[in-house]
Amino acid sequence: MVRNRIAVFGAGYIGLVTGACLAKLGHTVVVRDIQEERIALLRAGGVPIHEDGLAELIAENTDRLTFTLDAQEAVRDAEVVYVCVDTPTTPSGDADLSRIWQVIKSLEGARHLVAVVVKSTVPVGTGARIRAAMDSAGLQAVGYAANPEFTAEGRAVHDFLHPDRVVIGADDPDTMKLVAQLHDGVDGPIAEMDVPSAEMVKLAANALLATKISFTNEIATICEATGADVEQVVRAVGMDHRLGPHFMRPGVGYGGSCFPKDSRALRALAGNSGYSFQLMTSVIEVNDLQPRRAIQRLSDEIGGFQGRSVALLGIAFKPGTDDVREAPSAIIASRLQAEGASVRCWDPLVGPLAGEPWSSATRCRTPLEAMAGADAAIIVTEWPQLRDIAWEQAAAVMARPLVFDGRNLLAPQDMGALGFTYMSVGRTTVRAAA
Ligand code: UDX
Repeated sequence: MVRNRIAVFGAGYIGLVTGACLAKLGHTVVVRDIQEERIALLRAGGVPIHEDGLAELIAENTDRLTFTLDAQEAVRDAEVVYVCVDTPTTPSGDADLSRIWQVIKSLEGARHLVAVVVKSTVPVGTGARIRAAMDSAGLQAVGYAANPEFTAEGRAVHDFLHPDRVVIGADDPDTMKLVAQLHDGVDGPIAEMDVPSAEMVKLAANALLATKISFTNEIATICEATGADVEQVVRAVGMDHRLGPHFMRPGVGYGGSCFPKDSRALRALAGNSGYSFQLMTSVIEVNDLQPRRAIQRLSDEIGGFQGRSVALLGIAFKPGTDDVREAPSAIIASRLQAEGASVRCWDPLVGPLAGEPWSSATRCRTPLEAMAGADAAIIVTEWPQLRDIAWEQAAAVMARPLVFDGRNLLAPQDMGALGFTYMSVGRTTVRAAA
C-alpha cells in the first residue's frame, strides 16, 4: 500500500475532514490554515467545527496529523498538496478564487511535489489556468488533479469514507493513479475523467439537487392552492425508480455552503459565455422566495407582525451542524424584524452569533423558553428533538398556539388535536377549533 505525505490547505469543513480521513487511511498529513486561533485550537486538541465523528478521528490519528500556519513548512515535506480553501461568491456571481491563487503562489520552487489536487469547488476551466500558472512557475513536472467534494455536512466523515463515487479529473495517467491510490481504503467507486469534466460534475450535481428541491417547493405551493398534500404526492412520485425519493423535501428553502453558491456559480459560468441558464435562474428565485412566502403566509394568518413576538426554532441551515452559512433562518429573522416583530430564537448547536439580525434577537436555551409568550413559532431547521418536546406545554405558554412548520416536521392532525393552528409547506392548514 502506497502511503503519502500530504499537505492540506484549509482547515474548514472540507479541509479538516479531508485531512483527518486521509490520516485515517494511513497518510501523513499536515493541515495548514491562515487563522491563528483555529490552528492553536487544533494543536491543543480542540476541533473548531461540529462534524459527526471528526473529533474522534482527529484524536485517533494524532501521530499522522499535524497543524501549521506556515505554508512553506507544510509544502517542504509534502509529496501531494490538497487545496481545500473556500471559494465564496464575488459581486459578479463568480467564484472568488483568490485563496486558491494564494496557495498556488506559495508552491513557488516546490519542484519536489508529485501532485497538486484541488478539492475546492471552482468554475470549469480553473484547472487549466492553474496548470498554466504551475508550468510558468517551473512546476511542469508536478501533476494536477481535480477531486471535487460531495460530502454533506453533518455526515462528511461517513461520506468521505463511504462515498457514492470519488471523482478524479487528471490529464496524465500517473497523477490519476496517484490520486486514486490516495483513496485506497475508501469504500466507493472511482470515476476517472478529464479535469474540466470533474469540475463540471460538482456544479452539475449540486445544481440538480437544488433543482429537485425548488421543483418540490413549487409543487408544494400548487398543493397549497389546490388542496393536495405535498407529502403524499412526493412519497408516490419518489417511488418511481427513475426519480427516486431523495431531495424532495419541501420547506423554507435550501441553504448551506454549497447549493446557494454553486447554483449561482453555474449560472454565472453560463452567463459569462453569453448563455442565459433560465432553469437555474428559476431554481434560485424559487429558493429566494420560499422564506419570504412563509413569512407572508404567517403574516396573513396573524394579521401582521407589528408588536408580535415570534419564536424561531432552529438557526443552522440543516440539523446536525452548527453551520449558519446562507441559512434561511437569517432571512426569516430579518424579515420578521423588518415587519416589527421581536424574535426569540433557539438552536441546540449554533454558538453565539454577532451582527444583525441576531444581535437584535433573544437567544433562548430551550424551545419552550423561546415559545414563552410568543404569538407564533416557526420551525426553520428540522432538529429531531423538536418532534419530542412537550407541545401541549408549548400551547399553554404561548400567547397564541400557532406554529408554522417550515420543514413539515410534525403531523398536522396531532398539532390540531393539541389545540394549535398549524401551518406547513404544501399541506392544508389545520386551525384550532374556536
Ligand atoms: C450539499 C450536498 O449534499 C453535498 O453533496 C455537497 O458536497 C455540498 O452541498 P450540504 O450543504 O452539507 O451538502 O447539505 P444537504 O444535506 O445536501 O442540504 C442542503 C440544503 O438543502 C439544506 O438547507 C437542506 O435543508 C436543504 N434541503 C435538502 C431541502 O430543503 N430539501 C431536501 O429535500 C433536501
